[in-house]
Amino acid sequence: MFLRNGWYVAASLDDLDHGLVARTILNEPIVLFRDQLGKTAALEDRCCHRGAPLSLGWTSEHGITCGYHGLEFDSAGTCVQVPGSKGKIPERARVRSYPTSVKGDYVWIWMGDAGKADEALIVNYPNEAIREWPREYDRLHIKASYLMVLENLMDLSHLAYLHKGSIGGAPDDSARASMDVKSTPTGVKFLQLMRDAQVPKNYERYNYQGKIDRWLEFEFVAPSCILQYSGAVDAGTYDRGKRTGGHNLRVLHAITPETETSCHYFFHTSNGNPVGKEPNSKSVTEIFAEDAHMLEQQQQRLDGHDLSKLVDIPSDIARVQLVRFLNQKIQNETRSASPTI
Ligand code: FES
Ligand SMILES: [Fe+2]
Repeated sequence: MFLRNGWYVAASLDDLDHGLVARTILNEPIVLFRDQLGKTAALEDRCCHRGAPLSLGWTSEHGITCGYHGLEFDSAGTCVQVPGSKGKIPERARVRSYPTSVKGDYVWIWMGDAGKADEALIVNYPNEAIREWPREYDRLHIKASYLMVLENLMDLSHLAYLHKGSIGGAPDDSARASMDVKSTPTGVKFLQLMRDAQVPKNYERYNYQGKIDRWLEFEFVAPSCILQYSGAVDAGTYDRGKRTGGHNLRVLHAITPETETSCHYFFHTSNGNPVGKEPNSKSVTEIFAEDAHMLEQQQQRLDGHDLSKLVDIPSDIARVQLVRFLNQKIQNETRSASPTI
């Protein structure tokens, strides 16, 4: 089950520079493109004539032309041209269109009731404060549920194990970290603080004097984004208000379901202190590929498994809150969409 009334990242803006993009989102085949005026559009990727993927066609004067028998659709999904029909277009000749919006470096898509698609609900990232910071972004396709990717990001006790060669740090530092979890109107957020902690391999390039105070602030915004603010300063200086001078990173994680057991993981980093890369340190994509590998294996183990047999531990606190929040939202949406008797 997915939350339908919500904005999901469908593509990065430069994905669309190369033409039509075919992408399955929430189990629905979708074609994304820019029309001749440069406006983004998303249509059902299944022609209403014989079901060919419109993504095998091309953009044209009014929108997009099917590459099979040449029906042309505008960006609202209405068929505007049928070859050989002398201008007669069957009334039912249309495909579903989806609201899209451009914000930040992404094209966002609304998969639910189009009348509820309010652009003000899209997360503001990168915001004004960090808009000039150097940024990088990438995407991974993961054969695991989008929910598992979100859950992975809400339980950072995995850093010291799964990412021990890069951003991990010492398991003890993580185990004794303070954890402050809060509900928000749009989800849940936490601040995990490790005082007097070891410097992870990837942070060595900041030349800390010794140990560090390290913080990880993560905010889940339904349906599928997590905003990250992480940093580290010399040990003893966090409590004196110091926040800059070392690792200082903002990340948008946007995880868009493809099917129940696969997803598109878009991640976008803005670096407040770009001091170059340690020769042996891992890139963000390499680190997230470690998550992807674990999640895909985990998904295989969990397919058909009774999830109620899994055991929660203290580090699951924010993860559990996220799952509860999202389930509640999905239930509310399903209930309000069901006919009443
Ligand atoms: S299937 Fe698209 S025009 Fe025939
Ligand atoms: Fe991870």
